[in-house]
Amino acid sequence: MTGKTVLRNARIATQANDQTPYGMINDGILVLADDQIDWVGAAADAPDEYLSLDAVDLEGRLVTPGLIDCHTHVIFGGDRAQEFEMRLNGAGYEEIARAGGGINSTVRATRAASLEQLIEGALPRVDALIAEGLTTIEIKSGYGLNHETELNMLRAAREIGKCRPITVRTTYLGAHATPPDYKDQDDAYIDEVVIPALEAAHAEGLVDAVDGFCEGIAFQPRQIARVFDVATALGLPVKLHAEQLSNLGGARMAASYGAMSADHIEYLDEDGVTAMARAGTAAVILPGAFYTLRETQQPPIDLLRRYKVPMALATDCNPGSSPLTSLLLTMNMACTLFRMTPEEALAGVTRNAALALALNDRGVIAPGQRADLAIWDVEHPAELSYRIGFNPLHHRIFGGQV
Ligand code: NIG
Ligand code: FE
Repeated sequence: MTGKTVLRNARIATQANDQTPYGMINDGILVLADDQIDWVGAAADAPDEYLSLDAVDLEGRLVTPGLIDCHTHVIFGGDRAQEFEMRLNGAGYEEIARAGGGINSTVRATRAASLEQLIEGALPRVDALIAEGLTTIEIKSGYGLNHETELNMLRAAREIGKCRPITVRTTYLGAHATPPDYKDQDDAYIDEVVIPALEAAHAEGLVDAVDGFCEGIAFQPRQIARVFDVATALGLPVKLHAEQLSNLGGARMAASYGAMSADHIEYLDEDGVTAMARAGTAAVILPGAFYTLRETQQPPIDLLRRYKVPMALATDCNPGSSPLTSLLLTMNMACTLFRMTPEEALAGVTRNAALALALNDRGVIAPGQRADLAIWDVEHPAELSYRIGFNPLHHRIFGGQV
């Protein structure tokens, strides 16, 4: 019985059953074996062999799965504080983008940065997320928009996964915007840059999934479809920034590719929701972008509930529409802005975030799952969503390591 860690006197939000809200086990025991969960349950049901082991007393603290941020752009050069200021002086997000600012201003700064600078710039943002119990993060490219810098962003993402105790899942987002060097030549940009760079990045083992931005200021569904065809041929799963500022039918198109998720989706209609439900495509709700852009169109939470589309929540951490590095604040925003329940918010950054990344070894607390856990100085899981700007993390366990 060596190599086992027993945690007792825990209140465990397993997220793994619907018999109790949050899959809650009060007075619970957790047994970890190496990087996995070996046993979880009520103390009263624990096998004697575990009760005789030395145990860490959690003194009634709450245990949840480690948090998962399933949609980020944490790697970028520069910042966009001036655009924030411009918007508050009356300029619109799309107007700034069309005038060569927006994503393209970050592209200029990202191209100018070295690999080391990209890593150094992203680490404080990643560390802020880790300090709140994050154990898995998705990181996108999409601010290089040329062959060399798109690959460098993905290399930086892989390096971040090596220098921090977290899992990094990379996403190739070459189809994020048309760069200035291809102004008004969207199709040529896709043929000459997006697709060849995807193939090269894949050959270097840098890509876990492929994303795009389907929007009036970015790409049409037919253009994204060409990228998704290549992704599918390479065996890579897809996801999409869809219906953020308007409804172009992006989510429906993504669902037709069996997309893992459609993200943002403020303008999604019932048609799109049913297409997602049929395809098993998760919804990724991004309240940070809604809040920052002072959007008023709410994502269709009731429809997503009605058709049982799993709802994940993520920071969308990026310099333009969501300079947000807190999953706890993201949960609070989802509750207050969209009336998601605290239980949906916690599922959104654990179980459903794992679903959105197609990771079936995490996101719930159950035997055989990775021992990625967050231990909180709170009594009830609703406290995680309720407080604003407060971090009650007590300890984080990654792969069984405290
Ligand atoms: O997810 N929606 C598209 N892309 C990013 C924002 C990009 C930017 O403004 O830099 C997002 O919100
Ligand atoms: Fe995004």
